[in-house]
Amino acid sequence: MSNTHIDLNKRHSEKPEFSPERMAQVKELMNRLPEGKHKSALIRILHMAEEDFGGWLSIETMDYVAEILNIQPIEVYEVATFYTMFNLDPVGKYVFEVCRTGPCMLVGSDQIIEYIENKLDIKVGQTTSDGMFTLKTAECLGACGYAPMLQCGKKYHEHLTKERVDEIINTYRSGQVPN
Ligand code: FES
Repeated sequence: MSNTHIDLNKRHSEKPEFSPERMAQVKELMNRLPEGKHKSALIRILHMAEEDFGGWLSIETMDYVAEILNIQPIEVYEVATFYTMFNLDPVGKYVFEVCRTGPCMLVGSDQIIEYIENKLDIKVGQTTSDGMFTLKTAECLGACGYAPMLQCGKKYHEHLTKERVDEIINTYRSGQVPN
């Protein structure tokens, strides 16, 4: 499934620039690839950019990555808009991606989504006013045997129930990562 469109009005307040340490990692990655094939590092570099620049990719960030890789900006936009894992809008500190593919849906992912929407007072695609949580849906995340489930960053939360969702939200709110 492709990602949403790029909103030219949403920008970072400062021009994105990798730290010297991060740039060294980027260069190291590029150096592993043959001359002329640096574009193959694009997805990994976009992940680094998301991590470093607030969890989302603004147009300036994508232009910056294009400059580093010496490719056309459109080549970066094509990739960033194709994969739903990239955020093209500002997101909260924690992004919940609730799987809604068949196996998760059969065991209640719709009810879980509705419960999170009501609890956080947001709809899918929105961020809470305190900037803590963004709610998204995702296609199968490969944990069908543990459905229903959601991903938050690198962490999978499985066998979701309303009680479990309460626990997860409260734990993130307290600044910790739930088990
Ligand atoms: S269907 Fe939800 S993880 Fe596979």
